[in-house]
Amino acid sequence: MTIEQTLAIIKPDAVKNKNMGSILSKIEKNDFTIIQAFMIQLTKEEAGDFYHAHKDKPFFDDLTNFMSSGQVMIMILEKENAVVEWRNLMGATDPAKAEAGTIRADFAKSIDENSVHGSDSIDSAVEEITFFFEINDDIEELES
Ligand code: CMP
Repeated sequence: MTIEQTLAIIKPDAVKNKNMGSILSKIEKNDFTIIQAFMIQLTKEEAGDFYHAHKDKPFFDDLTNFMSSGQVMIMILEKENAVVEWRNLMGATDPAKAEAGTIRADFAKSIDENSVHGSDSIDSAVEEITFFFEINDDIEELES
C-alpha cells in the first residue's frame, strides 16, 4: 500500500445543513490526514471547468447550478490507498444505494445533492488537486 492524496469536496447541501462538522469527524475517525482545506463559493463556470468530464451528460446543467449554489469545502486528504478509501467512506453516488454508515447514506438526500465528492482515480486526483491548489502554491512561493 502506498500513501496517496485525493481531492475531497463537501458540497453545498452538506454545508447548508450543517453536516460539515460530522463529515470532518468521520474523515478523522477513518484516519485520513487533512493536508489543506479552504471554503469557497464556485461560479457556475468554475464548477463546469472542474466537472468538464461530465459536460455532455444530461445532468451537467443541474450539477453546475447546484455546485455553484453555496459554499463548499475543498480538501486534500492523505492516507494509504486514499483514493479508494475515500470513495468507500463516501458510499455510492446515489445515496439510496449507499451502504449504511457511509457519508452519503447518513447525510445525502439525492443523487444530485449527494453531500461529498471524491476523485475517481489517482490520475484524476492529481488533476483535481492541481485544479484547486495551484493558487495556494503560488501564494506560498510569494511568501517564501
Ligand atoms: P460526483 O461524485 O461529485 O460526480 C459527478 C456528480 O454528478 C455526482 O457526484 C452526482 O452528484 C451528479 N449526478 C447527477 N446525476 C448523476 C448520474 N445519473 N450519474 C452520475 N452522477 C450524477
